[in-house]
Amino acid sequence: MKNTTNEIRQKFLQFFQKKGHTILPSSSLIPKNDSTLLFTNAGMNQFKDFFLDPKKKKYSRVATSQHCLRTGGKHNDLENVGYTERHHTFFEMLGNFSFNDYFKKEAIIYAWELLTSKKWFNIDKNKLWVSVYKNDEETYKIWLNIVKVSPNHIIKVGDKNNSKYNSENFWQMGETGPCGPCTEIFYNYDTKKNDDFSKFLENKNENFIEIWNIVFIEYNRISSTKIIPLKYKSIDTGMGLERISSVLQNVKSNYKIDIFKKLIKQISCFSKITNLNNISLKIISDHIRSCIFLIYENISPSNEHRGYILRRIIRRMLRHAYKIGIKKNSFYKIVPNLIENITENFNFLKGKEKKIKEILKIEETQFSETLEKGLKILNIEIKKISNQEISGKTIFYLYDTFGFPADLASDICREKGIKVDLNSYYLEKEKQKKQSNIGNKFYKNFNNIININDTCNFEGYKKNTIKSSIKYIYVKKKIVSLISEGEEGTIFLDKTCFYPESGGQIGDIGQLYYKKSRFIVENTKKYGNTIGHIGKVITGSFEINNFLYTKIDKFYRNQIEINHSATHLLHAALRKVLGNIVTQKGSLITNTRLRFDFSYPKIISLSNIQKIENVINTEIYKNNSIKVQYCSLEEAKNKKAMALFENKYDSIVRVVSIKNFSTELCGGTHTNRTGNIGLFKIIAQSSISSGIKRIEALTQSQALQFLHNQESEIENISNILKTKSTNFKEKINKLIIQVKNLKTQVHIFQEKENKYQIKKIISNIEKIKGVKLLINVFNNYDYNSLKLIIDQLKKDFPSIIIVLINKNNNYFNIIAGVTKDLTNYLTALEIIKIFIKHTNGKGGGKNEIAESVSSNVINLSKILKIIKSWIYSKLENKKDNIHE
Ligand code: SER
Repeated sequence: MKNTTNEIRQKFLQFFQKKGHTILPSSSLIPKNDSTLLFTNAGMNQFKDFFLDPKKKKYSRVATSQHCLRTGGKHNDLENVGYTERHHTFFEMLGNFSFNDYFKKEAIIYAWELLTSKKWFNIDKNKLWVSVYKNDEETYKIWLNIVKVSPNHIIKVGDKNNSKYNSENFWQMGETGPCGPCTEIFYNYDTKKNDDFSKFLENKNENFIEIWNIVFIEYNRISSTKIIPLKYKSIDTGMGLERISSVLQNVKSNYKIDIFKKLIKQISCFSKITNLNNISLKIISDHIRSCIFLIYENISPSNEHRGYILRRIIRRMLRHAYKIGIKKNSFYKIVPNLIENITENFNFLKGKEKKIKEILKIEETQFSETLEKGLKILNIEIKKISNQEISGKTIFYLYDTFGFPADLASDICREKGIKVDLNSYYLEKEKQKKQSNIGNKFYKNFNNIININDTCNFEGYKKNTIKSSIKYIYVKKKIVSLISEGEEGTIFLDKTCFYPESGGQIGDIGQLYYKKSRFIVENTKKYGNTIGHIGKVITGSFEINNFLYTKIDKFYRNQIEINHSATHLLHAALRKVLGNIVTQKGSLITNTRLRFDFSYPKIISLSNIQKIENVINTEIYKNNSIKVQYCSLEEAKNKKAMALFENKYDSIVRVVSIKNFSTELCGGTHTNRTGNIGLFKIIAQSSISSGIKRIEALTQSQALQFLHNQESEIENISNILKTKSTNFKEKINKLIIQVKNLKTQVHIFQEKENKYQIKKIISNIEKIKGVKLLINVFNNYDYNSLKLIIDQLKKDFPSIIIVLINKNNNYFNIIAGVTKDLTNYLTALEIIKIFIKHTNGKGGGKNEIAESVSSNVINLSKILKIIKSWIYSKLENKKDNIHE
């Protein structure tokens, strides 16, 4: 009997438990406290600190089955999924880890025993091959002399492009972080061909698959050019559960192992496809797993950061679903079955089904329209190309205008054999980013030049002023030992009472002082684990290692605290009134206002806005105390504390609660009673991206001021309308009816007036070469009526040239009309062009009617003479009969 995937996972963990390893659960897909990673992409991520810092290490040997997502960042497999038998976005990585315990020899021997021992995985040794890093003689010798692998089965792999450590056999977690040489174990499906392993390394021999990577963590990459040795050596191994299952279940594709087979079959039942090798089936079966796990981690589809990755995965999945005949806007209907299937193997997902279903349904509704529009444009653009390559600009346009993800467009192009110029796509994207400066300000810190590996104690929850000492000073992005009067810079202290911008709350302002020296703090920001006080020395100077006092602007802080507590009330009230579908997406809390972004698919009606305000103001009147407590993350979850779960928290968390109304995980500062908020008023709601709403609100005196402004405005209107505000509706309705009646009367009058004018001006008709010409100048006449007069004259006289001028106070309109029979000789547009030429006016039109306007008419009668003689010249050669 072949082992199931669940049994294989179990056996792996049992094996390492027997070898003295502690078995730990998978960590979250969202890396904790690690800004360098978007998603957990390897088993070792959760142990990053253990590798880097001996003081932080809690275990010596550990084994896990880690949930990983390789989409975005250094390890990105999204575009390969479906097109290879091995790649996934979401997968499980089996791994054993040693922290300054065993090293190369034991790690290799353990791996070999698990794979080949009859008691364990029982794989034929002849089917296994290994690669080692070119210079790693020690590892080579372990394989050869201790494990006794035939030298034909060992291959040394060097660096690519002569660039040091740029090798398949040198593993790096990301752009920075722990890394080291590695040895990889491969399985050969077809030993008869006993063939060229080196071809596999060039991606040319599909019989081999890599099953296990054993990394010897010895270094820390701190930048693209700098790598430093670590204090001690560690082991990090990774074996894809789906891959080893394919070997042990003797199938040549991950998509044929038990768990995928069942899933693919299920999806095919809802589609028009019976061939289970279909690419779309593979893609959907992979992507639905990622969607479920990401939504479980409280990520919702959005246009940025992790939410955008989820959106891309969902959209790619939906397109493939529609491609195989699942009806538009109905994929969500099969989602419950798929979830049920997947949760069978992951018990902890139970209870989350409803939320997953709801989110996927909303996203599908929103996407259908995008997909249709995007596909139409893409198809038009594809028809236009001649060199089988589509420009990055087009792909960017689709992304920017319709939210049509680039990888979706690439996927479609790939199916049609068309290349995508992704480089120019990224260039366009960068260009736009720079132009609109959309970089989220919280990410700006990641790129900040100030890179200090230090800590600073924040003591500002209780104190407004403390004594501290200076650790670093930065002036113009360089470390200095002294900052003098007039200089701007950033000061780092060992402790502070200044709250740094984080969790939506803006940074404190205030001053740092000692004796007569004063540094005005204009902003406070986080830099890694430390806090920078940004500002300017206004008197004296400050020197590194010296003492100073920190003093925040208490009033400014109080106002921020009031708005922060009000934001918690808003969050709770939104969920109370609109339901639990509301999930926080971000916030901005300043001393003058607050802003709250959250997922909600519809416009919030005025009555709901008012309900929300009522709920919040009632909480304010109750004047409940706002309490802060520290407890374990587990306890906080039991209390149903709300949190921005995209952030990861320490095991001890800070919980802010307002009686039974609101409980939130929060590091921010708060006022101590709800009554301090005074008054809460929502002033705007908007949609910031699809499915994400933003509410802006004011509190206390700012809210009152807003209401006062509204009141003044009403008074102004009241004065204009000359009635009380209670009568506005009646008065405005009356005015609307009055205006309508007046318009009708004016119309009747104007018609009469036009008839009268026509009668009057036809006496001015003259004849040039037998053709009727009417030129007339009006004063302040109704402009639209001039056109009506021309139309009427054309009806009355089947062959005529009309030039009407309307002289207003500061400008002239001129309209020319020529009946069709005469347009062979001259046109209305030509007449207008003469006028424009002599007046620098503006205008245009057609052969039979044209118009212009000018404010620069110095000598009208002269211009009219020019026009008349031009008409004469045009008609000079005319011989035809003219209608009388
Ligand atoms: N970190 C290595 C990998 O992901 C081994 O676990 O391949």
